[in-house]
Amino acid sequence: MSAPVAAVIGGGMIVHDQILPSLYHLQRQGIVGEIRICSQRASSLQALAESETLRRAFPGQSFHPYPDFKVDPNARHADLYREVLAAMPPRNIAIVAVPDQLHYDVIMAALHANQHVLTVKPLVLLVSQAAEIERESALRGLLVGIEYHKRFDDRSLMARRRYREGNFGEFRLGTACLLEKWYYRHSNFQNWCTTENSDAFAYIGCHYVDLVHFITGLLPVSVSVYGIRDRYPNGNEGFLWTDARVLWNNGACLNVQNALGFPDDAPGTNTQGLTMYCAGSDVGALISHSDQYRGLQYSYVKRPSGAGATVYAEPSPDYFQYVDLGGPGLVPVGYGYRSIEAIVGACIRVEQAETEDRPKLLREIDSAGILATPANSRYNERVLEAGRLSILNGGRQVRLEEVGPE
Ligand SMILES: NC(=O)c1ccc[n+]([C@@H]2O[C@H](COP(=O)([O-])OP(=O)(O)OC[C@H]3O[C@@H](n4cnc5c(N)ncnc54)[C@H](O)[C@@H]3O)[C@@H](O)[C@H]2O)c1
Repeated sequence: MSAPVAAVIGGGMIVHDQILPSLYHLQRQGIVGEIRICSQRASSLQALAESETLRRAFPGQSFHPYPDFKVDPNARHADLYREVLAAMPPRNIAIVAVPDQLHYDVIMAALHANQHVLTVKPLVLLVSQAAEIERESALRGLLVGIEYHKRFDDRSLMARRRYREGNFGEFRLGTACLLEKWYYRHSNFQNWCTTENSDAFAYIGCHYVDLVHFITGLLPVSVSVYGIRDRYPNGNEGFLWTDARVLWNNGACLNVQNALGFPDDAPGTNTQGLTMYCAGSDVGALISHSDQYRGLQYSYVKRPSGAGATVYAEPSPDYFQYVDLGGPGLVPVGYGYRSIEAIVGACIRVEQAETEDRPKLLREIDSAGILATPANSRYNERVLEAGRLSILNGGRQVRLEEVGPE
């Protein structure tokens, strides 16, 4: 297989901050070939093409925009992705980065066009849809990789290995939080992350549910989510503050707080972390990760540009940064890049295998459990669907079996 075509569907924040720079770096190394991006609005593609950050890091690199903003900068096209996927040579890579409630349609269109899929989390919002995607991709010998990038943070891999070697005993009680800054309310989120589609737990809480499974191998059995209804600047209503309680199959309990409400003037791009209290035979054990404060303290001479930027900052060196390794341009580093690299690499491995060997290779990827796939991370869709049922019903406890089988 020559370097695969990568077609990204969606052209918003995550594409700018993580996906496109990762693809450009893979392209620079000859791992990915042509990059195509299809977004509903031509204006998002123009913004990506003209981004100073991306131009500085990847001089001379570009993508094919659909619709073409040079022809009509005001073009809008909600269904164009179908044509873009169908026009790709088969068995290349589709990257899904549209709002949560559109993942299912775009992923199914990609599979019907015989493309491997890398999708941002959450895979989909319904357990039945996840099962359908699992069946369809297996039938076609295609990989669907779900981009839970916290799995590629070295600290998650360290905790997983040590936990599974028995160094922490058994997880009993935990607390996690991820609060995005207030200014998120002013972004495109206000158009889609609304009460009828999603909530703060569904949007970001899923990362820590996924991580507790990733570290321990335990499975969630029930969830209750209390959400506070709040208004976006455009008047739309969202559950912008949530408090979730997830119970696990060994009786353990994880509390997860999420919000679009961390102060813009606070240091760090958000606040987040995970603490897990565990038990050995006659001794307590602890895993505690501060995922926002990673030891760096910067105080600048003036406030940098950009929403949420502060004079005093605590940047994370670990998620996604650009470093100068002598050029040309800059090199993206961090688990945001490594996660994209791992999924794209797995798609290429599957594609390079003989047709008859692909099912076995796909099963090996599922059972290794490092990449999240529809088959090995169904608990995430179960928690999401049960969480939505709970939040829309005043926070009642919902057993996962109410929404579908493992
Ligand atoms: N930490 C994470 O893993 C993480 C972080 C951010 C976002 N995400 C996920 O990424 C997805 C996108 O989030 P975002 O922050 O980039 O949102 P965003 O609102 O900034 O961007 C969404 C993009 O999708 C495009 N779009 C909408 N409908 C479309 C259609 N029919 N065809 C083509 N394009 C369409 C929009 O034009 C926009 O460019 C969401 O599912 C979100 O949950 C994950």
